[in-house]
Amino acid sequence: DWTPNAFVEETVDSLKAQLKQDKVVLGLSGGVDSSVAAMLLHKAIGKNLYCIFVNNGLLRKNEFEDVLDQYKGMGLNVKGVDASARFLEALKDESDPEKKRKAIGRVFIEVFDDEAHLIEDVKWLAQGTIYPDVIESVSATGGPSATIKSHHNVGGLPDFMKLKIVEPLKALFKDEVRRVGASMGMDKNLLGRHPFPGPGLAIRILGDITAEKVRILQEVDAVFINGLKEAGLYDKVWQAGAILLPVNSVGVMGDERTYEKCVALRAVESTDGMTADWVNLPYEFLQKTSNDIINKVKGVNRVVYDISSKPPATIEWE
Ligand code: XMP
Repeated sequence: DWTPNAFVEETVDSLKAQLKQDKVVLGLSGGVDSSVAAMLLHKAIGKNLYCIFVNNGLLRKNEFEDVLDQYKGMGLNVKGVDASARFLEALKDESDPEKKRKAIGRVFIEVFDDEAHLIEDVKWLAQGTIYPDVIESVSATGGPSATIKSHHNVGGLPDFMKLKIVEPLKALFKDEVRRVGASMGMDKNLLGRHPFPGPGLAIRILGDITAEKVRILQEVDAVFINGLKEAGLYDKVWQAGAILLPVNSVGVMGDERTYEKCVALRAVESTDGMTADWVNLPYEFLQKTSNDIINKVKGVNRVVYDISSKPPATIEWE
């Protein structure tokens, strides 16, 4: 019978035997898979696991700082690399969804490769690949491994991709990954996080991306996500987020007319991201969230709720 405790014990033993005194590099995304993979490797080889957490500037509000602190608190040997400016520069004036994804993937690989080169004599690349990633070409969970995969065939291989690969979660499903994490005492909030796409807020800002639009969307998203948590709804939803529309609409504030941004809120139920239904969030919750967003976030005067299911709509808007 499969149990998370036995899995941890066996995997740590076999990682020790396989990796010995070798150095291993791993890209942390803030998501469940890469975090659990890191904890297993940390148990096996300690400081010889070099974790890299890249801030692409497209994460949720305060996420880079908060998650980096959390990783450090777990004892991980982790380096936070703030490459926000580099990503923003690569995205400048780009509105095409696929070109935005490609630009982010390219810059991520450059940044990760630069960092991997700083680790003397590194032998292995660890990835948080799980079983569904192995059988499907596109990861629904995002993160560095998904980014890397989708850019496999672009240009020559960067040096870090010539390293030997170690994937301790390759045989597990998502719920098993969560149970393994829990059995190692990992934080419930970290293990219960919603999936978040590798390109982050870049594909939730329709059209071109500016620092100001990222700031607005981070604020809106924080009101929505914190509201879901406060209302006890976060764990009932598979994935939620906000989308900044390339639309201004007329509003009224005091006796002034405004002409400001519109945001869409999206919350879906799903098991694997392949199909999804919009969530029937309580009207009272939507009412409060809409008021909070419009009152707190400067530059937004209208909120709509996305009631489309997948298919034919997708979860993300780009
Ligand atoms: P869609 O929008 O295709 O999304 O219904 C299904 C799931 O995949 C995530 N997603 C991505 N993850 N890179 C990723 O790492 C991407 O480019 C990407 N696009 C979508 C999405 O958040 C949802 O969980």
